Amino acid sequence: MDIDLVDQDFYQRNGAPHDQLAWLRANAPVYRHKGDEERGWPGFWAVTRHADVVHVSRRSDLFSSSRKLALFNEMPEDQRALQRLMMLNQDPPEHTRRRSLVNRGFTPRMIGALEQHIRDICHELVDEAKGRESVDFVRDFAAPLPLYVICELLGAPVEDRDKIFNWSNQMIGAEDPDYAADPSEGPDAAMQVYAYANALAAERRARPREDIATKLIMPDAAGETLTEEEFDLFVLLLVVAGNETTRNAASGGMLAFFEHPEQWRRLVADRSLARTAADEIVRWVSPVNLFRRTATTDTTIGGQEVKEDDKIVVFYSSANRDEEVFADPYTFDIGRDPNPQIGFGGGGAHFCLGNHLAKLELRVLFEVLAERLPNLAQAGPARRLRSNFINGIKDLPVTLS
Ligand code: HEM
Repeated sequence: MDIDLVDQDFYQRNGAPHDQLAWLRANAPVYRHKGDEERGWPGFWAVTRHADVVHVSRRSDLFSSSRKLALFNEMPEDQRALQRLMMLNQDPPEHTRRRSLVNRGFTPRMIGALEQHIRDICHELVDEAKGRESVDFVRDFAAPLPLYVICELLGAPVEDRDKIFNWSNQMIGAEDPDYAADPSEGPDAAMQVYAYANALAAERRARPREDIATKLIMPDAAGETLTEEEFDLFVLLLVVAGNETTRNAASGGMLAFFEHPEQWRRLVADRSLARTAADEIVRWVSPVNLFRRTATTDTTIGGQEVKEDDKIVVFYSSANRDEEVFADPYTFDIGRDPNPQIGFGGGGAHFCLGNHLAKLELRVLFEVLAERLPNLAQAGPARRLRSNFINGIKDLPVTLS
């Protein structure tokens, strides 16, 4: 089989390359993938089985998040320095201190307390959509929900939402001309978010509030605090990690319902299924397609030898269709339980900080939609994002009744 797991045009046309990934799981689960010199992408090991993705994710001693930072392309040195300080790009023990400081804002209790607020936002979005002539699921539901929630976490004023929305698009969609005129817009937007966070922190120090931003700039019980720079970087990470991911889970989930109308009828008949549906949506869509690590030493993955400094790319979209783990992996089943999906990462130090929040947003959104818009229907083709990193949808026209 002709293997190319990075061709963004393919992703834009078809979504994740599931045929190739299935072939790899069966025939070459840790596969030496060619690089692309023209783009500056080095060769890498593509890890496609669930068990191997979990192994790589959990062994941060063997597979570093901090060496060679960018996913494929190397960055200019000034942005690299910034990236290096971001939690996502650090290994324990450096990572551990920061992670435990930010965990304070994301406990199940703190996230659970947001449920009513999230439900109110979903109802508002339905009310607004009902007043529109034409409705796009991404623009009118999937994009605003996580954006409004992040702004709420930060205590950002309503008038800043559009600005934050555009920055986040530019950072994630840097390879898609609809979002960024040229790839350098991504890093530029990142610098602007960084500056925005800096101003926000100064404001909260001067006038503390009841938001997570304030909690995170204050010392914890042991007197530890995030430095100013750590706080700014965390906000940057939140804007990237918390926005597009949930947006694409929601829009990919809606598309899955359109493609499996019997599952939508199931949900409309029994909205308590929204809880298991949230996990199944994350499994089915795998909004984050992959992440990269670097081997810290010569080691093996699933019996395959890899060398120190080799780049290792774990494909969550593949692990989430692994026949060894999921019965009927190509069936979208909103009642699937247990569902050991690893769309939020394979466990270990970097396991998604926002997983409870994302699942809460998805559950409440689909509960409200099934209740208030049971006749939602697709009104035109879905347009996908040009990215091999995020399995994203840009437009999904719908009718409400
Ligand atoms: C990390 C997926 C929503 C914040 C990650 C990772 C994945 C992921 C795959 C990396 C795991 C690893 O390297 O082992 C997703 C998906 C989401 C989602 C699929 C939605 C469906 C969110 C939300 C937030 C968030 C809503 C915050 C509001 C983070 C942060 C990290 C992270 C801060 C870095 C954690 C660390 O380095 O310790 N996420 N995420 N994510 N996510 Fe999420």
